[in-house]
Amino acid sequence: MSAFNGQSNSQLILALSKGRIFEDTLPLLEAAGITVTENPETSRKLILNTNDPNVRVIIVRATDVPTYVQHGAADFGVAGKDVLLEHGGEGLYQPIDLNIATCRMSVAVKNGFDYETAVRQGARLRVATKFVQTAREHFAAKGVHVDLIKLYGSMELAPLVGLSDAIVDVVSTGNTLRANDLVEVEAIMPISSRLIVNQAALKLKRERLQPIIEAFERASQPKSQ
Ligand code: ATP
Ligand code: PRP
Repeated sequence: MSAFNGQSNSQLILALSKGRIFEDTLPLLEAAGITVTENPETSRKLILNTNDPNVRVIIVRATDVPTYVQHGAADFGVAGKDVLLEHGGEGLYQPIDLNIATCRMSVAVKNGFDYETAVRQGARLRVATKFVQTAREHFAAKGVHVDLIKLYGSMELAPLVGLSDAIVDVVSTGNTLRANDLVEVEAIMPISSRLIVNQAALKLKRERLQPIIEAFERASQPKSQ
């Protein structure tokens, strides 16, 4: 099924989430000659027009971007590696790392909790996280037994109120951890956002998509290169 049933192969739908991914993708779109003419922060509209009548942007939750692209409801999108690892990447082509929304996935505990000793002694840890797949794989690779507690946000609260011993969450400046008296005890992996493309759209709309992918690639190179 293609995005917006009945549309021709020249029509493109891009899935973005509001906030940092939308903001950081705008310059990449500009590099491809595409200007979004509506602002999701001030408009309630979920389908935004661009200067190109054949390109529209849909605004969805960050965790839902891969789902829209996988099912062809959007031809392409931008999603964090954290989100893609949880989704699994089925049906998605991931041509480039856009080097935007950079942060890291980490384990954090309440200040004073002796994580190293708990791990060394083989204690069973309660870990609260939105990122259960990533957490499961990380602790399995370390041979640490964990009870995973799935949350949808505000992970930092869990150790403070005794819901968990540790959290797995994304960290950037570390300000949120510090503000909540938590400390980062392990960095799991660096995170950035990727361009994702529906595999069928890549074949059927290659002529329209390829120049945009190339413009994104050029514009997202690290500045030093
Ligand atoms: P959802 O709305 O689906 O719960 P979210 O609130 O995590 O998702 P955003 O906060 O917009 O959505 O984050 C989008 C992406 O940006 C994340 O998937 C992650 O890759 C990255 N990210 C998250 N927090 C930070 C941060 N503090 N600094 C930089 N990048 C971040
Ligand atoms: C993310 C994440 C952390 C915070 C880390 O939250 O869930 O709480 O950023 O960033 P820091 O290390 O710079 O403090 P976000 O800002 O996206 O808020 P939200 O999850 O409520 O959307």
